Amino acid sequence: MNFKRTLVTAALPYANGPLHIGHIAGCYLPADIYVRYLRNKNEDVIFICGSDEHGVPITIRAQKENITPQEVVDKYHEILQSSFKGLGISFDIYSRTTRPVHYQTAQDFFRKLYEKKVFIEKETEQFYDPEAQQFLADRYIIGTCPKCGYDKAYGDQCEKCGSTLSPEELINPKSALTNATPVKRKTKNWYLPLDKLQSKIAAYIEQHKHWKPNVYGQCKSWLESTGGLQPRAMTRDLNWGVPVPAEIPDSNGKVLYVWFDAPIGYISATKELLPDKWETYWKSKDTKLVHFIGKDNIVFHCIIFPAMLMEHGEYVLPHDVPANEFLNLEGDKISTSRNWAVWIDEYLKEFPGKEDVLRYVLCATAPETKDNDFTWKEFQTRNNSELADILGNFINRVVVLINKFYEGKIPPTNDLSKQDILIINAIAQAPKKIGNKIEEYKFRDALFEFMQLARAGNKYLADNEPWKKIKTHPEQVATVLNLSAQIAANLAILSEPFMPTISKKIFHALNLSPLKWNVAGNITILNDGHCIQKEPLILFEKIEDAVIQKQTEKLNQNKKQQIISVTNVKPLKDEITFEEFEKCDIRIGTVLSAEKVPNTDKLMKLEVDLGFEKRTIVSGVAHCIAPEEMLHKQVIVLANLKSRKIKGIESKGMILYAEDSNGKLVPVSPVSAIPNGSVFK
Ligand code: 2FM
Ligand code: ZN
Repeated sequence: MNFKRTLVTAALPYANGPLHIGHIAGCYLPADIYVRYLRNKNEDVIFICGSDEHGVPITIRAQKENITPQEVVDKYHEILQSSFKGLGISFDIYSRTTRPVHYQTAQDFFRKLYEKKVFIEKETEQFYDPEAQQFLADRYIIGTCPKCGYDKAYGDQCEKCGSTLSPEELINPKSALTNATPVKRKTKNWYLPLDKLQSKIAAYIEQHKHWKPNVYGQCKSWLESTGGLQPRAMTRDLNWGVPVPAEIPDSNGKVLYVWFDAPIGYISATKELLPDKWETYWKSKDTKLVHFIGKDNIVFHCIIFPAMLMEHGEYVLPHDVPANEFLNLEGDKISTSRNWAVWIDEYLKEFPGKEDVLRYVLCATAPETKDNDFTWKEFQTRNNSELADILGNFINRVVVLINKFYEGKIPPTNDLSKQDILIINAIAQAPKKIGNKIEEYKFRDALFEFMQLARAGNKYLADNEPWKKIKTHPEQVATVLNLSAQIAANLAILSEPFMPTISKKIFHALNLSPLKWNVAGNITILNDGHCIQKEPLILFEKIEDAVIQKQTEKLNQNKKQQIISVTNVKPLKDEITFEEFEKCDIRIGTVLSAEKVPNTDKLMKLEVDLGFEKRTIVSGVAHCIAPEEMLHKQVIVLANLKSRKIKGIESKGMILYAEDSNGKLVPVSPVSAIPNGSVFK
């Protein structure tokens, strides 16, 4: 197929959290390199993305933060957008799925399938919260995990033991909204009959054997899974999402499944970008539709969305879905909840002007064929030994030497040596080598080929030593520096997809306006006598050990905090009512005397002045606190606790202490003095 245009999409990120390096390496950076390359070649390409603003995780975050889902998505849409901008991800549009154009497009899409009778309607029993009067998504049901006994497992997963669960399996399930016991209720939803579409989808996948092995393989295993594809509900009983079109009977209270509406977001964003031309991109057979995604999105883009598009009938189907695997961080899975991530917004603040360094490192370590690992040490090494020592050093030497020997004017070439000819060949072949790799979605290899040209330039200078030969072999030096400058000009063009800011800087140093890819590969970009800039150019500063150490310490700090918060905090006890709490009469008192109870390890006898009376209280704290530490301290006393005899001493009430997970106790005092007998409330 001869394609006339390319429509590139990058997965719409959920607007419920910031971006981390895994998102960038897995999806957005490869997509951006691909698009920049095509633009560079003057091809017709558009690059579509936006925030995915529906789905249960967004409503859960809203509930946790006590704000509305709209407030959640407004906040994160801004953060996502500015991180993309900061990293130079050059979408033609970054839209959002809460925009009216999207509601309309998604509803029209649904309506069309409904009218074509594509859906099957199914009544099922779903969990319902009778107090909140709404159906509950699996995430909204909390109970005891049948596998490990954790009492806060979700209806779809236990975060303690990692088991995948269904809400029916939970012991003592409760609604996360009201704590009510959910009941089963009948509800009708619309299903995409993937079972009936199995052979069509299988044929489609077979036509796309050129997909990356990880993508093709995952599709095959879905298709071949026992029982084959199953019907999948395209609507949900939720109140956050694109409403099912109102004219459809029984649509009240139902929204489109987030994985139905999100990919349609690619279409609505294109409409928003090109109101008059969007159909050319979506409805012409000669459009190459390419979805860049992470591996967790493969089934949605290779099976479910194509099935939706096929059934709709008017749209092109995805031609390529170059999904990457996952990027790990310092040997461990990136995790938002464990804060084990390098966050893009933080990186951009902490490493100003170094967005291209991150682009370079993430491209060089991208998990293209298997999961890969990002480490701060490697980040430093790639910056220092590759970017600074090879690329930066080469460009700097070219600028400095041409200024020093030729007053900044490009010298002419003279007779060519064998090595000069090899260099000319390397320049000529570089664009094709790099371009081919980009077209095959092998961005690591493409970047490597790019750096090979910089390496060749460095070696060329080192071998010819123009700084030594300027007096003895001036003609040879002129040739070497002319060709070196041509390499630099080629590097300016070829670096653009990978490191757009660096590319601009090289063009500027050479006093050139940015040039397109088709000019690259030749040695006449800089004419003899062309004046380059005078100032030396430091493209990359070395990154010191201390900077890297700070980052690894920050990560380790997160890990420690996680360990403390995950393993050391005791689970919360069952909820009590205010009335129950009110039964406790808690007072402020002052310790008048304190002594260890003889022949015991832990017991301490204290006299406490409660204002209205003096009490003897026995506390089991002597193993943690010395009696003199308690003397004259104001303490908090549960005053109406039934008295009891401990080692023959009548203890009337209980002093309150805080206990950490290791059993260490500390007394708790009011932060400022208050009369004894004051009521704790
Ligand atoms: O996994 C995710 O972050 C999803 N929000 C991706 C959606 S891609 C598309 F379909 F919009
Ligand atoms: Zn469990």
